[in-house]
Amino acid sequence: MAQATQSSQHVIVLGAGPAGYVCAIRLAQLGQKVTVVEKEFLGGTCLNVGCIPSKALIAAGAFLDKVGHVSTMGITVTGVKLELEKLIAWKAGIVGKLTGGVGGLLKNHKVEVVMGTATITGKGKVRVATKEGKRDLEADSIVIATGSVPLAIPGFDFDGNHVWSSTEALAPKQLPKHLVVIGGGYIGLELGILYKKLGSKVTVVEATDGALPGQDKECVAVIERSMKKLGIELITKAFAKGYEVKGGEKRVRIEVEGKERFLDCDQILCTVGRKPYSAGLGLENVGLATTKQGFLEIDKKMRTKVAGIYAIGDIAGQPMLAHKGSKEGLVAAAVIAGQNEEYDSRCVPAVIFTAPEMASVGLLEEQAAAAGHKVKVGKFPFAASGRAMSLMETEGFVKVVADAETDEVLGVHMVGPEVTELVAEAALAIEMHATSEDLARTIHAHPTLPEAMMEAAEAVHGMAVHIFQKPGAK
Ligand code: FAD
Ligand code: NAI
Repeated sequence: MAQATQSSQHVIVLGAGPAGYVCAIRLAQLGQKVTVVEKEFLGGTCLNVGCIPSKALIAAGAFLDKVGHVSTMGITVTGVKLELEKLIAWKAGIVGKLTGGVGGLLKNHKVEVVMGTATITGKGKVRVATKEGKRDLEADSIVIATGSVPLAIPGFDFDGNHVWSSTEALAPKQLPKHLVVIGGGYIGLELGILYKKLGSKVTVVEATDGALPGQDKECVAVIERSMKKLGIELITKAFAKGYEVKGGEKRVRIEVEGKERFLDCDQILCTVGRKPYSAGLGLENVGLATTKQGFLEIDKKMRTKVAGIYAIGDIAGQPMLAHKGSKEGLVAAAVIAGQNEEYDSRCVPAVIFTAPEMASVGLLEEQAAAAGHKVKVGKFPFAASGRAMSLMETEGFVKVVADAETDEVLGVHMVGPEVTELVAEAALAIEMHATSEDLARTIHAHPTLPEAMMEAAEAVHGMAVHIFQKPGAK
């Protein structure tokens, strides 16, 4: 890895989420003097109220669900009960370890951490409102990594009581009897399925004609089927209009294809997206403006339009994913340290912790065709995987999308057991311009789930061994 070429600068990073803290550590590794300003918690949304706590709870929900289904393996489990308070404490313990770890890493790298709310007051100038009072900082460069916050819709202000955002849903005091989830995207589905597995009745209200808009439709169909099997009602083409409270109960008014419908429940969770966060940041003091959606525009070097000010993570545009923010943090750090670095990743993987899981990287079939590729597709079902059978998780498939002329892998879309882990191989293949033949020729250990990737790549050529592909069939 290249070392710094720029003599030491002082850099202030605003926000200690996965974009900001990763950037700060890399800056320190490259010999820069770094100060991180954080207003709430080290680790940001991701470690405190996002990726980590949600995945901890989802793992527990999956486990609870699985022990109820292992009698076919000859294992009878009786007396299973959920102790919600203990579960939440266990999750909080994981968050505590990780955020403590971030604090330790920043300290070891001699990064100064200032807890307080930052406002940019001028070029290279930041004022921090700390518990002890105001503190003025000066630096050569500023990196804005202030992230995003949950988006509310009219009639559903987050009050932490009747209407939860994802934050409250990750620390419930008790399980709702009936949870109405507004928005069938990433969070709505991940948390909706979690609550169903923990024992709540769950209804999901989604504005478009299906869950997870923008994702591979065949993959989504598997998830929708499995939600139905679980007993979750997904109401599509539906808009939540408002709610009223009667006693302890709530009545949510929705409009489904022009018709009014009411849903009685005891808890509402609103997950209709997140918005970039720059409130009170003082962007106007340096002549920086956001886009209509609230994002800061950046170039491939993470530079905003104002010299010496960089932006990374959720504030810097879609997709709002932790690993995309961290990558941008590494690029910004390298650029500030004088390296000729650019954000040139060819694709950002997406992982959705539904049941079964879904993962995707690169182009969808229709996107590849629209980009002018002649497309070839290979698919392999987990129903034909010995490993999936032994895990009792045979739903789903791996789909490889390749260019029919060059055989280059353009996209991989999967739904099924542990596909959130499998997607790393697909991302590497696309980054390295691998062909589907490269994937097919690579020896994959047996019996493992990644064999499904190898067989899907073989299927691109009509040569998958463990399914019958009629010669000449598409
Ligand atoms: P954040 O993590 O939001 O961090 C920004 C930090 O800046 C915050 O700590 C904030 O307090 C601080 N800040 C803001 N303004 C100021 C200021 N003026 N002064 C000082 N500090 C300030 N992504 C994934 O990739 N995988 C997942 O599985 C996943 N699961 C998620 C589950 C949930 C429930 C949610 C809500 C999100 C999830 N995400 C997931 C998205 C992920 O959390 C975000 O993309 C990621 O946290 C963005 O990182 P960031 O550093 O840009 O911003
Ligand atoms: P989202 O954008 O994923 O989904 C929002 C959903 O709400 C969409 O399906 C949209 O059509 C629907 N919607 C919007 N307005 C509506 C209305 N009035 N009534 C009914 N439905 C409506 O947003 P979400 O789930 O809040 O997550 C925010 C972001 O956080 C994600 O886009 C993702 O970037 C990130 N995230 C990532 C995760 C992961 O990587 N596993 C997990 C959770 C969040």
